[in-house]
Amino acid sequence: MESDRVKWNQRYGGKDYMFSFTPSKFLARSVERVCALVAGRRALDIACGEGRNAIFLAQHGFQVSAIDISELGVERGRARAEQVGVSVDFIVADLEDYRLQGVYDLIVDFNFLLRPMIPEMVASLASGGVILMETILSDPGLEGEHCKDYLLQSGELERLFSWFAGDILLLEEDLSHGTPVARVLFRKA
Ligand SMILES: C[S@@+](CC[C@H](N)C(=O)[O-])C[C@H]1O[C@@H](n2cnc3c(N)ncnc32)[C@H](O)[C@@H]1O
Repeated sequence: MESDRVKWNQRYGGKDYMFSFTPSKFLARSVERVCALVAGRRALDIACGEGRNAIFLAQHGFQVSAIDISELGVERGRARAEQVGVSVDFIVADLEDYRLQGVYDLIVDFNFLLRPMIPEMVASLASGGVILMETILSDPGLEGEHCKDYLLQSGELERLFSWFAGDILLLEEDLSHGTPVARVLFRKA
């Protein structure tokens, strides 16, 4: 949506990076497990922002494509990838209109929720491929302003993924560390 592009370009237009270049903690602690589970190294980062997770995966030997609506976020990702000497195929696109291309061994989705896209993500996985997803959970303790459409409800990740042939290998709702989040590791059959 155009308004998202404008909003995120404003956020990424400041002089400092919005997110640090530390990857998601969930991704960092899962990468070895994922590497043992998947047969190949093709990865896709959904709504990659400034690329912290895409770059981390490239540093771990994945061939990464990364999509975001914000050209300023992607520009920063490209600059950072070049700086650290890895290659990531960054794509500027609105995921609300974009059809995923290619087949992936790993799809990561951090801090972005587009429910209608989840079946397409699963369809784009190779057999045995994995989705790692973590995003904000609606909770009375949640601070700051959040659009409620973009918040997960308790139990929702399980409902969303239990439709698909495969296994939910990890499912957590974490209310104990700052922002409440839910996370899943799903492996396609
Ligand atoms: C909270 S940030 C998360 C960035 C990244 N996943 C991370 O964890 O560092 C959400 C991202 O979603 C992107 N985004 C929002 N709406 C989008 C859309 N319709 N299509 C593609 N990207 C979108 C924003 O530009 C922003 O980079």
